[in-house]
Amino acid sequence: MNKVIITDHPLIQHKLTLMRMEETGSKDFRELLTEITMLMGYEVTKDLPLGEIEITTPVQKTTAKILKGKKLAIVPILRAGIGMVDGFVNLIPAAKVGHIGLYRDPVTCEPVEYYCKLPEDIGDREIFLVDPMLATGGSATAAIQLLKEKGANNIRMINLVAAPEGIEAVHAAYPEVDIYVAAVDEKLDDHKYIVPGLGDAGDRLFGTK
Ligand code: URA
Repeated sequence: MNKVIITDHPLIQHKLTLMRMEETGSKDFRELLTEITMLMGYEVTKDLPLGEIEITTPVQKTTAKILKGKKLAIVPILRAGIGMVDGFVNLIPAAKVGHIGLYRDPVTCEPVEYYCKLPEDIGDREIFLVDPMLATGGSATAAIQLLKEKGANNIRMINLVAAPEGIEAVHAAYPEVDIYVAAVDEKLDDHKYIVPGLGDAGDRLFGTK
């Protein structure tokens, strides 16, 4: 309950510093995010259950370990979450990918769903919900609620950078969702950007600024 796992491997921290730098362009930003996602993926998948199967090597028959737990689904929150899909799919090619699109209503400031396409058997899958930035927690909690409405009950959230406010919001609503993060930053500013953060992750990924 209320678990936050900070993946502070030196390679992750070094690459995150490069991502934070304003002079880092979209190509490098994208590649760094994929590399960090793969490194975080090692930690996120550390407790996946293993079984054994009989195989034949070129030398002899043997038993060998194989993943045996629930099937996985990677679910990015659009649009910046897309930047974390390749890293996970490189590690777990059999995982299915769902997408959740949310925008913030300019009047109510509440997240509004505009797209949702999930694997049909989402309820039977272990879900990795990905979004580089966990700021207010509004999109994250809305995405988790949506996933639960569709039958999902096994969700972990993976972010690159989180604000304390976002972690608190997610865990106030869903204490059972473990949060994996490369860094917990200081706070949110008046525009709800993470400080010091790395700016708008979507704009930096897709060069839309
Ligand atoms: N989303 C971003 O992309 N950056 C922030 O700092 C906060 C939310």
